[in-house]
Amino acid sequence: MAFETLRWVGDIDGYPELIDQRLLPARLEMLKCETPRQLYGAIKTLAVRGAPAIGVAAAFGICLAMQKAKSNDLAKAVSCLEESADYLATARPTAVNLSWALDRMKECARKFIAENDKVSLTDLRRALLSEATAICDEDRQMCRRIGKNGQKLIKTGTGILTHCNAGALATAGRGTALSILYEAHDRDKKFKVYVDETRPLLQGARLTMWELTQAGIDATLICDNMAGTLMKQGKIKAVITGADRIAANGDTANKIGTFSLSILAKQHNIPFYVAAPQSTFDLSTETGDDIPIEQRDGDEVASFGGIKIAPEGADIYNPAFDVTDAENITAIITDKGVIENPNTEKIAELLVR
Ligand code: MRU
Repeated sequence: MAFETLRWVGDIDGYPELIDQRLLPARLEMLKCETPRQLYGAIKTLAVRGAPAIGVAAAFGICLAMQKAKSNDLAKAVSCLEESADYLATARPTAVNLSWALDRMKECARKFIAENDKVSLTDLRRALLSEATAICDEDRQMCRRIGKNGQKLIKTGTGILTHCNAGALATAGRGTALSILYEAHDRDKKFKVYVDETRPLLQGARLTMWELTQAGIDATLICDNMAGTLMKQGKIKAVITGADRIAANGDTANKIGTFSLSILAKQHNIPFYVAAPQSTFDLSTETGDDIPIEQRDGDEVASFGGIKIAPEGADIYNPAFDVTDAENITAIITDKGVIENPNTEKIAELLVR
């Protein structure tokens, strides 16, 4: 990619730096986070967003938290780590990658202390930075593998609809849904992508269009309410989205509007694909009914580009995600392989393989 969504700068005393996605596409600026509080704010306000990217960002947040642990009292350092992990986990509740990455950081600290005699705080901080970097690198590799596994589904001459942004900006690598498109493009397949604008925060219009245009992929922006018409006209032959959390039975939480697209796709006999890395599966959540859905400020719906579009005092409902039933999903494309007609057994089998 021509840009890096997020990275750690320097050694253990360094800091994470991330593309401030609130400013795109007007400005490409890096945001430096020097405290867990700043990082929490960046996640909450969507400066960094997308399930895998917020997981990586949170892991870097733990490295920042450890910079505050001053004494060589490791028990104190671990409790400071756990406190920060609990705090960062509350920034956004739906994407499981966030708590997955934080759990991994906690486990890393526990294991490192248990397995090493006489460790210093500096040793522990180094181990945690190396774990966070590993989470970041692994995400990059998982994106690549999703692209390779999914590109087979893209046929020359086809039209594909995507929703929100499941691209490089949402991960540490090439994205999930968009990684498939990048891989197909690299193989000289010719296709057209229809991009839902994705109200209320316009991740499709602002971010996916920005990414695809830079990559030279033929992309057309549509309003969210146009998808059904384009399907009826035969312009869309497949839908590919990302995921924020996939329950054990395959029910999938993703950006609000995804569920409606799955119904439209079913109605028009169009395959509906979800692309996601292993870190997005949550086998402890049995079905989509148990996935917590983030509710966001009503002002995001009541305003457009900073201008109020609803009357003062209007009642507003603003869930950030919805759940697509597994039965509406043709296949889930993961870094480990493709799960057709996903269900509990097939998912468990693929993930433990
Ligand atoms: O609110 P956002 O922008 O974080 O929502 C992002 C999505 O819904 C993405 O589709 C999902 O996180 C997958 S990203 C690879």
